[in-house]
Amino acid sequence: MQGLDTLKARYLSAIAAAADEAALEEVRLTALGKKGEISLKMRDLGQMEPAQRQAAGGLLNALKDEVEAALRARKAALGDAALNERLRSEWLDVTLPGRPRPAGTIHPVSQVMDELTAIFADMGFAVAEGPQVESDWYNFDALNMAPEHPARQEHDTFFMARTEGDARPPHVLRTHTSPVQIRAMAAHGAPIRVIAPGRVYRMDMDQTHTPMFHQVEGLAIDRDISMANLKWVLEEFCRAFFEVPSVELRFRASHFPFTEPSAEVDIRCSWEGGQLKIGQGDKWMEILGSGMVHPKVLEAAGVDPAQWQGFAFGIGIDRLAMLKYGIPDLRAFFESDLRWLRHYGFAALDMPDLAGGLSG
Ligand code: DAH
Repeated sequence: MQGLDTLKARYLSAIAAAADEAALEEVRLTALGKKGEISLKMRDLGQMEPAQRQAAGGLLNALKDEVEAALRARKAALGDAALNERLRSEWLDVTLPGRPRPAGTIHPVSQVMDELTAIFADMGFAVAEGPQVESDWYNFDALNMAPEHPARQEHDTFFMARTEGDARPPHVLRTHTSPVQIRAMAAHGAPIRVIAPGRVYRMDMDQTHTPMFHQVEGLAIDRDISMANLKWVLEEFCRAFFEVPSVELRFRASHFPFTEPSAEVDIRCSWEGGQLKIGQGDKWMEILGSGMVHPKVLEAAGVDPAQWQGFAFGIGIDRLAMLKYGIPDLRAFFESDLRWLRHYGFAALDMPDLAGGLSG
């Protein structure tokens, strides 16, 4: 049989040159497939004389074995190379820290609301809510601010549009969270202990004022609640909120139509190198308004002032966030600038709680 050596040389070099398993399979089919060159030659053996067939058969079988062995070897080599390439390209450092935090962040105002809700919940305060478009009776009258009361003018109120002869009572964008006191007492009576965090609106805009901002109202009514209870609750709140071992509060006599007596409350602090420290130092910073709920307010909410008394307070939430997290400009809170939100935002899965730590 002639030409087997050439055949062998051709296939062995084709096998060596096959760049991947598909190319190698091509070579196998051309040589050993059903209609492959070597297979056809083997089929021709049938037509040969016995002596000739024996000689040629031996040679052809040897060629077939050799080509098959070369195919197997090349296949194994290609397989190793493919595996090595995968190992190289799919390399993974299993010592890397866990996944990055989710892309979204919790706004500092939401964070502070969650923090103060956790603190007050621990002291037995439930969360109450009221509408942001509020009747002026709830926003003012019921809080002992009659229509001619001068304090109404101080609130820079947004009034809802009215048409001539509108039968509905006048409405405003609530200027404070205090109307929720009235709604909560009217709905649940006394005794009661609630906080009401939420949005409020006033026509004002500068570095520390925005037309929409946030307050939290506090209210505790029972048979013998006094200013002493108010002071303890506020101290406890400030200590927990600012996450310091102790705080000192100063009660300054003040005036609000809905409380009697009324006090504005300052917290002891220091400013060193532009850095605010709460709890120590020789400066005082005003943080809230408070007092004993005025009997007329209790009456307006259907609670008998002869039997019940208690305290209320109102705190600016945005201001708390600025103080605790060192945020200089209030306006940036509501500009939705992604860089600001990423910088000042909180991890979405860290819910503040007293046991686990408020700010993580
Ligand atoms: N409503 C007041 C304001 O917005 C804050 C306030 C002061 C609320 C004293 C109170 C309080 O409950 O007792 O300026």
